[in-house]
Amino acid sequence: MVFKKKRRWHALSGQPLSEMDKRIMALENKGKLVPTRDLIKTDEQIAGIRRSGVVNTGVLDEVEKHICAGMTTLEIDKICYDYCTGHGATPACLNYEGFPKSVCTSINEVVCHGIPKEEDVLQEGDIVNVDFTTILDGYYADASRMFIIGKTTPEKEQLVRVAKECLEIGAEAAKPYCFVGDIGHAIQKHADKYHYGIVRDLCGHGVGLKFHEEPEVLHYGHRGTGMVLVPGMVFTIEPMVNMGTWQVFVDADDKYGWEVITGDELPSAQWEHTFLMTEHGVEILTR
Ligand code: MF3
Ligand code: CO
Ligand code: CO
Repeated sequence: MVFKKKRRWHALSGQPLSEMDKRIMALENKGKLVPTRDLIKTDEQIAGIRRSGVVNTGVLDEVEKHICAGMTTLEIDKICYDYCTGHGATPACLNYEGFPKSVCTSINEVVCHGIPKEEDVLQEGDIVNVDFTTILDGYYADASRMFIIGKTTPEKEQLVRVAKECLEIGAEAAKPYCFVGDIGHAIQKHADKYHYGIVRDLCGHGVGLKFHEEPEVLHYGHRGTGMVLVPGMVFTIEPMVNMGTWQVFVDADDKYGWEVITGDELPSAQWEHTFLMTEHGVEILTR
């Protein structure tokens, strides 16, 4: 029998092993899933993603300034498109695998990938996720926020708050040389306290040079599983937290096949940032 297991991590040829090389190779020898070298961003790439993050934050700030009851999600799309292109950048979602608009606007039971529409008018009490991704000079930054339209119910208010806490707790668990599963475990533990469902069918992702890169960042699971995260990696954490079941479906009414809704049509909330892993923990690149 011929068996050849390919190494994922390769030291740079002709150079002595760095401390990072040694740590990663030891983890790989123990059977852990380690990154490939191309997932570690160079200083120049990090600077580019950081600049893209600044524009992306500007887009969401602009939405925050204007979003209100009576506005259509198509108007939100225009705000995002105008701000992004006005700052020399491109909306990554526009025409991405058939997605027809520049931003995802997901209201109440829509979990994610909601498509902006003329007929979707924001109502008092709605909770809406606005998810935008910027491409600037080829570099991607991806983030989303929840907005509460006017006053909502205490139940929906709590869902939005806990979803944000899930992101923060996940980010706190992300330490250099930790595992993706450490993040997911911390998030799930928090959501469990409220008997909320953490969506399993969609996950966070590496980002920066492409929209979706390795690794998959699951928002549930066990410590010590999934890929090892090392300094220089850039990825999102974006837990989708459902008031009821974690089960989700693609909405049969969406002719584009993008919109994801909860199985019980109870509301869902999500917050997302793009993070850089450093020697000390994560830095938010979309703040
Ligand atoms: N921004 C989403 C994410 O967080 C992806 C949206 S893809 C789109 O990964 F095509 F729906 F826009
Ligand atoms: Co996003
Ligand atoms: Co994302």
